[in-house]
Amino acid sequence: MCQHESTAAPKKRIFSGIQPTGVFTLGNYIGAVRNWGKLQDEYECIYCIVDLHAITVMQGPAELRNNTMRAYALMLACGIDPQKSVAFIQSHNPNHAELSWVLSCSTMFGELSRMTQFKDKSARHADNINAGLFTYPVLMAADILAYNADLVPIGADQKQHLELARNVAVRFNQRFGDTFTVPEPYVPQNGARVMSLQDPTKKMSKSDENANACVYILDDKDTIMRKFKRAVTDSDAEVCYREGKDGINNLMTIYGCVTGKTMDEITVEFAGRGYGDFKIAVGEAVADHLAPVRNEYARLYADKAYLNECIATGSEQAYRMTRKVLSKVYRRVGFVDHK
Ligand code: TRP
Repeated sequence: MCQHESTAAPKKRIFSGIQPTGVFTLGNYIGAVRNWGKLQDEYECIYCIVDLHAITVMQGPAELRNNTMRAYALMLACGIDPQKSVAFIQSHNPNHAELSWVLSCSTMFGELSRMTQFKDKSARHADNINAGLFTYPVLMAADILAYNADLVPIGADQKQHLELARNVAVRFNQRFGDTFTVPEPYVPQNGARVMSLQDPTKKMSKSDENANACVYILDDKDTIMRKFKRAVTDSDAEVCYREGKDGINNLMTIYGCVTGKTMDEITVEFAGRGYGDFKIAVGEAVADHLAPVRNEYARLYADKAYLNECIATGSEQAYRMTRKVLSKVYRRVGFVDHK
């Protein structure tokens, strides 16, 4: 028997999504998208630009359209290979929205009310507390459950949403019979949380008002250098990872992620040198690391025909994978077959 087709267990399935709300940050890259690429051989991966989720906060139509195409191209530039993974745009597969409705009838008002992201976002967008913002986690559950994903790479801020998806899956399965895989969070071994360069106790975020707080993966070298030179640190001068040194810890984490060096190696490298030197080294390492991503993005973004082809293939694959699940759900719930 040929070794490849053997008895090996089937690959586990991974689903993850990212919102098309502007260029990815260094935090999105190091914490999420870069790792997505590394999972493609070991797992069956499905990656989605979640434009349906994006409209839970106000978006200009032209901007959303642009941002969605950019996000798709960025995803490929970060190493997602559309030959290996299913890479698509959420609104192109109507099964997400359809399943979301059914799941919303197995989700309790009370449990959605407890979502901390809903509370935060409704405080930040008090003029637009729409129902979609409230049911956002149900759509996210539909994204995951429609594919029977085994594993979901997510950051800490999405843990509560994944927990909800698990609860909804279990509840539906109990009521209607085994239908959905109950997904587990996937925590990458070297997944790091990147903090703001201006307030290293907060996560790096594109919604930060301070432009120096956040590095974007398409920033040019001068911009990257400037942001790192201005990064907030502390008043001693030792490059070492220690509690209370949030700024330095963050810079060391970033430097380690882009160079592959350990904290000890970094400490030795910068022993006796000041923070100024270290910040320049981090800026350079980040700029060098991101240069190929920027180039690849420019190449892809100029090739709309190729991008559109990838998007079309991805959404077809996604549709086929999920239609079967949705049909099963409809039968289980008791909808009459349409012949
Ligand atoms: N809510 C996620 C975020 O903002 C994005 C997302 C949507 C997602 N659907 C998903 C992530 C499904 C993982 C799985 O980061």
